[in-house]
Amino acid sequence: MLTAYDYPMARLVDASGADLLLVGDSLGMVVLGYETTASVTMEEMIHHAKAARRGVTRTLLIGDMPLSAFRSVQEAVRNAQRFVQDAGCEAVKVEWNDTIVETTKAITAAGISVMGHVGLTPQTAGKSGFGMRGKDAESAALILSQATALQDAGCFAMVLECLPDLLAQEITRRLRIPTIGIGSGPHCDGQVVVTYDILGLFERFTPRFIKRYANLAETVRDATAAYVKDVRTGAFPGKDQTVAMAPDEFEKLKQTLGS
Ligand code: KIV
Repeated sequence: MLTAYDYPMARLVDASGADLLLVGDSLGMVVLGYETTASVTMEEMIHHAKAARRGVTRTLLIGDMPLSAFRSVQEAVRNAQRFVQDAGCEAVKVEWNDTIVETTKAITAAGISVMGHVGLTPQTAGKSGFGMRGKDAESAALILSQATALQDAGCFAMVLECLPDLLAQEITRRLRIPTIGIGSGPHCDGQVVVTYDILGLFERFTPRFIKRYANLAETVRDATAAYVKDVRTGAFPGKDQTVAMAPDEFEKLKQTLGS
């Protein structure tokens, strides 16, 4: 699974061979420039999910429900329906929170496929920060129980974020549904990353578990600086980027305008 938030990136991810495309609320940090994902609105998510939809032909499209989508169970169901009906998503993703089991049951009862998300849940991470979760037996057992509760509420898959490898392996072994790890080692059924992280497009910080496959920020910096230099020195636009006007037509124009 990879993330995308707009048409061009969704097209590229769709062509990558990935099975799932997540319009994550990581949108808030990597595209909209917010401090955390907690500020992302439904309007922003729907706007970007619609754009991604236009670029997807084969990948399962999943819309990430932002924190603001969960003001009540009824509102959460309506918001999940918006992802499907307005934005064309095939499923939604929900992060663990205190009322999420009841909410997930209501969303699945409305006929919408739901992916769960446990471990580090950035929407509610608050003061606990963005570090690993489930390092001790007690918190590990709690995360397993949350994953099981979400599975039993009807989730079709489970994101496991920032868990130690053996805990992720144990959860994967115990759940009936596939797990998708992020920063949780190699034993999950699938993997997900924020695409901007592996492409080197988001520079504010890089999670420890990220492997860089490209450095697009540097590519963009070099290319845009080269363009600006060319404009300043007159090297752009050159002959190849310029359409010449036929001299006789230009003469006629001058006569029409008067000298
Ligand atoms: O918002 C997001 O991109 C996510 C993934 C990192 C799982 O939740």
